[in-house]
Amino acid sequence: MSSQVWQGQNKRIYLQEVGTRDGLQAEKVFVPTENKIGLVNALSDTGLAKIEVTAFVSPKAIPALRDAEQVLREIKRVPGVVYTALVPNVRGAERAVESRADELNLVMSASESHNLSNLRMTRQQSFSGLVEVVKAVQTTGIAINVSLSCAFGCPMEGDVPQADVLDWCRRYVEELGATGVTLCDTTGMAYPPQVAELTASFRARWPETELTLHFHNTRGMGLANVLAAIDAGADRFDASFGGIGGCPYAPGASGNVCTEEIAHALALMGYDTQVDLALLLAAAHQLPALIGHDVPSQILKAGRRLDLHPQPADFS
Ligand code: COA
Ligand code: ZN
Repeated sequence: MSSQVWQGQNKRIYLQEVGTRDGLQAEKVFVPTENKIGLVNALSDTGLAKIEVTAFVSPKAIPALRDAEQVLREIKRVPGVVYTALVPNVRGAERAVESRADELNLVMSASESHNLSNLRMTRQQSFSGLVEVVKAVQTTGIAINVSLSCAFGCPMEGDVPQADVLDWCRRYVEELGATGVTLCDTTGMAYPPQVAELTASFRARWPETELTLHFHNTRGMGLANVLAAIDAGADRFDASFGGIGGCPYAPGASGNVCTEEIAHALALMGYDTQVDLALLLAAAHQLPALIGHDVPSQILKAGRRLDLHPQPADFS
C-alpha cells in the first residue's frame, strides 16, 4: 500500500449501505413499508456492494423495523448486490432466512456493559447465542457476518483492549466459521492510529476473511478513520445515506459516516467505489420528507465539489 493514502490509484473500495437499518432504527417515525422498499430499490441501482436492508429484531424493541419480512421480500434484487439483515437470535435468523436474506449480520458488543444494555445478555451468553444461530442455519449455506459493537471504545467502560477485540474476532472466524467480521465504532470513539493498528492486526491474522469497518461520525473523525483503515489494508466500509443513524442504547450516539460524503471524497482521491453519486444523492434527497427532519449529509447541503453556481446578476 502506498503511504500516500489520498492517491487511490483505482483501488476498489466496497461501500455497504446501512441507512435503512442503522439509520431508520433510530428514527421516531415509522417510515411506511412501501417507502422503505422504494429507498432500498433506489439504493440498489447506485453501485453499492451490499445493503443492510433491515433488522429481524423484536418489534417491541425496535418498532420502526417491524415490517422487516415484507421489506426484504418485496424489494427488487439487483444481481451482484448482497442483501443482508441484522439478526440478534435464532428467531431473527429464521425470519431472515425465510425472507431470503443473502447474509445474516449477527451482532454482539466488545463491551460487557453495552452488550447488557443493547442485547440484555452477557457477552458469553451472546456468543453462545451466535453458536446456536449458526447451527440453526447451517444447512442453508447462508453467509454469516459478525458485527462487533464498541470495538473502538465503549461509552460506559472506555477503551476496550485490542487483545480482547481480536480474541472475539478469533472466536468468530475460527469457532463460528464466520465469512465476515465488522468492527463497529458504535459511538464514534475511534481515532486514526487506533484504527490503523486494529485493521492491520486483523488483516495480518485473517487475510481471507471479509473485514468491514463501521464508523459513526459522532466526533467528526469518520473520513479520517476511513483513510486510516484503507492505509492499513481495509477495503470495505459501512455508511449511511444522508448520514443518518445511531444506536438507541448508546448515550450520545449519532449518525454513521455518510455514504455520499465518503463516495464523493474517495472518488476525488482516485478510488474506485463503483458508486453513481447522482443516483445516491437522489436516494438521499428523499430522506428528510420521510423521516421528518434534516439529515447531516454535507453533500446534500453543499452539492458536489464542482456543482457550480450562477454568478450573481449584479456582479461586475
Ligand atoms: N424477532 C421477533 N420477535 C422477537 C425476536 C426476534 N428476533 N426476539 C425476541 N422477540 C420477541 C419475543 O418473542 C418476545 O415477545 P413477547 O414479549 O411477545 O413474548 C420479546 O421479543 C422478548 O423476547 P426475549 O427472548 O425475552 O428477549 P429480550 O426481551 O431479552 O430481547 C432482543 C432480546 C435482543 C431480541 C431484543 O431486545 C431486541 O430485539 N433488541 C433489539 C436490539 C437492536 O436492534 N439494537 C440496535 C442494533 S445493534
Ligand atoms: Zn452503527
